[in-house]
Amino acid sequence: MNKKYINENLFGKRILIMGGAGFIGSNLALYFQTFHPEAETIVFDHFRNEEKFENGNLKFLGDYRNLLNFRGEIIAGNINSSQDLNKIRDIRPNYIFFESAISDTTVKDQKLMIETNVNAFKNILYIAKDFGAKVIYASSASVYGDSISPQTVGFEEPKNIYGFSKLMMDQTAVKYSKEYFIDIIGLRYFNVYGRNEYFKGKTSSMILQFGLQILNGSAPRLFENSNKIFRDFVYIEDVIQANVLAMVGFGKTGIYNIGTGKARSFQDIADILQRELNVNLGNIYIPNPYVEQYQFYTEADISQTSMRLNYRPTYSLEKGIADYIPEIKQIFKTYGKI
Ligand SMILES: NC(=O)c1ccc[n+]([C@@H]2O[C@H](COP(=O)([O-])OP(=O)(O)OC[C@H]3O[C@@H](n4cnc5c(N)ncnc54)[C@H](O)[C@@H]3O)[C@@H](O)[C@H]2O)c1
Repeated sequence: MNKKYINENLFGKRILIMGGAGFIGSNLALYFQTFHPEAETIVFDHFRNEEKFENGNLKFLGDYRNLLNFRGEIIAGNINSSQDLNKIRDIRPNYIFFESAISDTTVKDQKLMIETNVNAFKNILYIAKDFGAKVIYASSASVYGDSISPQTVGFEEPKNIYGFSKLMMDQTAVKYSKEYFIDIIGLRYFNVYGRNEYFKGKTSSMILQFGLQILNGSAPRLFENSNKIFRDFVYIEDVIQANVLAMVGFGKTGIYNIGTGKARSFQDIADILQRELNVNLGNIYIPNPYVEQYQFYTEADISQTSMRLNYRPTYSLEKGIADYIPEIKQIFKTYGKI
């Protein structure tokens, strides 16, 4: 069996994917099931219900449909409940991939954001210490705000409570990796796109949202000046690569940027999609309502990630979109619009 990314035999290892019904978590769960069937992969997630934030978006975005092909154990629980976290102790994990969070960057409830993204994480680290588990967790490029590009670890300026919570998460990781003597690896994802993000709804990537608009026969709806708004868009395959590389070897504790190392504009996305789909529908430009807390230029400095994790992104925006288009077409056929 081609193990892809690492050659380790993970026989007898228990890999816990927290937030495993969400976009990135479900991709990790399915990766381990496919490429490391010798390991036991377990998913923990709150799963969606009717609860909503004040912005009208669902509180929990995990969805069983991301896991239709998953054959491992599944645990439903809330990371904010110590009773639910006890279910993790029964698992005795060797590796914890921590993807569960409020991933919606427009949520304003500061207390809930800190409880979920920072305090619950500390409780996970406490459990990891008891089992000597290695922790690989999701941080975010939102910690950088509009700090100078390419963004580098150590130069953070969060512009909203989400970015602040991720920065506090990183500080918690640094503190407890020293105190508990466990490997804790933080991955600061930039803008991730790819399969299994449909259930994020309005918080899914603009690659999917523009793609569905175009397939619907409409011009993509971009914020004004989108040719001047740059992000480092990273394809899900490269994000999986980074997570898997982080789990092997010792002494990799630290915080790493996960992007392509190249900033591209939102206009580039719309143009590449129209080219790939062989249409020319023009563009609709709308005012940006988030201007005060928006990031206008992100580009990951991935030098440390390449050096210490051996991470090599292999998907340019063109290649990622081309790979993703069959899935976007399938989503359009099944669900239509977001
Ligand atoms: N997708 C991106 O572009 C991106 C960029 C930077 C960082 N991140 C981070 O990566 C991680 C995964 O993001 P994603 O895009 O897969 O988002 P997602 O919302 O699809 O996944 C998060 C999962 O966590 C679960 N969850 C939320 N609150 C929970 C709780 N209280 N208890 C248990 N489970 C809970 C949700 O049900 C969901 O399945 C998050 O930490 C997010 O902040 C994502």
